[in-house]
Amino acid sequence: MNDLKMIEQALYAYVPSDYEYAKALTDSMSYSLEAGGKRIRPRLVLEFARLCGGDEKAALPFACALEMIHTFSLIHDDLPCMDDDDMRRGKPSNHKVFGEDIALLAGDALLSLAFEIASAPETVKNAGAEVCVRCVNILSAYCGATGMIGGQVIDLENENKIADLDSVTECNRKKTGALIKAACEMGCVCAGADKKQIAAARLFAENIGIAFQIVDDILDVTSTDEELGKPVGSDEENNKSTYVSLLGIEECKRRVDKLTGEAIEALELFNGDTSSLKELALSLSKRTN
Ligand code: IPE
Ligand code: IPE
Ligand code: MG
Ligand code: MG
Ligand code: MG
Repeated sequence: MNDLKMIEQALYAYVPSDYEYAKALTDSMSYSLEAGGKRIRPRLVLEFARLCGGDEKAALPFACALEMIHTFSLIHDDLPCMDDDDMRRGKPSNHKVFGEDIALLAGDALLSLAFEIASAPETVKNAGAEVCVRCVNILSAYCGATGMIGGQVIDLENENKIADLDSVTECNRKKTGALIKAACEMGCVCAGADKKQIAAARLFAENIGIAFQIVDDILDVTSTDEELGKPVGSDEENNKSTYVSLLGIEECKRRVDKLTGEAIEALELFNGDTSSLKELALSLSKRTN
């Protein structure tokens, strides 16, 4: 089974389906999880676990936990109090279908479910207690106030003003880079990687993390709703400062290429086969959705 199939099968099975009450909640959670998405973060978990000689089955729950946290971040990001976007992953945004109250709670429940999965007895049995504790620490730290959520706040603070490049970089490093870093780092941890390998994985992640958000900002200007599966022009409408608004598209593309090159260089430390990670980094820099 390929990674994508393995991830999606496991991901969908984790949502409680036999729960008699609060059906709107579980429907809403499944709606956003099953709407698709590129699954970049869980794929990175499995890639790094394999690269460091680990068992991908043991890493799979952490890959799913991370995709749940990412999906929660997207549901909340689209709410009227945030970016107020009506389309996500090619479908009406969660709150357009289930209402703001349920969307908010579905995001909360996905966050909670992530930690339930990462600490479940079955996960501990396969990955070991120490790996589980380290992954729970990575997930919580990179999701929280100094990670993705903190980045989302910087993003809001930067609305309606011309923010400087350092502040936009810090925002991107956190709102997008943090979960990508969590992915690469957890993959290594699951495989018992050493400190040097973890440092190299972090460097790879820091570079592709910033590049990923710059591409997202470029596509917000150059793509179409259909191709992207979410509304283009959202950043301009919300008066956001982005790499694109500060530097222009051509300079952004140059920076994406440079960051991608630096990410690929960071992989040189590994002895294993890095070709699929190289390909993934390159394909992300050239992505169209
Ligand atoms: C979108 O992430 C939000 C950002 C961090 C830029 P993705 O582009 O990975 O979204 P999906 O998961 O493929 O829908
Ligand atoms: C969001 O950045 C990053 C998240 C933590 C969700 P954006 O607001 O640019 O993401 P999109 O473009 O809505 O996917
Ligand atoms: Mg946003
Ligand atoms: Mg948004
Ligand atoms: Mg965007």
